[in-house]
Amino acid sequence: MGNVVFLGMKLFDRVQVEVAKDVYGSLLELARAHNVPLPCDCLQGHCGACAVKVAPLRTETGMIRLSPRERYLLFAAGKISRTQYHADTLPDHPPLWRLACEYQVADEKIMVAF
Ligand code: FES
Repeated sequence: MGNVVFLGMKLFDRVQVEVAKDVYGSLLELARAHNVPLPCDCLQGHCGACAVKVAPLRTETGMIRLSPRERYLLFAAGKISRTQYHADTLPDHPPLWRLACEYQVADEKIMVAF
């Protein structure tokens, strides 16, 4: 079971969501299902409006892999460096910018800031 905590200026308080394995989807879909007002526009990984910071709720650093589309859009928006753009994998600490409509929620505990 996953656990996602949303923090944002547009929220009165944090929103914590437990995610069952059979309902995994995108982070944006999860936010919408729980009335979390993540910014978005295209819903298809083209505009970059849904960029959010994602951090794992654990102490050790893991490695993540961005899809080519997410990597390109985050680089074009200035959210990741050229070095990060060319890296095969990236450490998940400090929190990285991710596209909520591309990020697929898994069995993990994460914090999402927007
Ligand atoms: S809503 Fe456009 S990239 Fe996610």
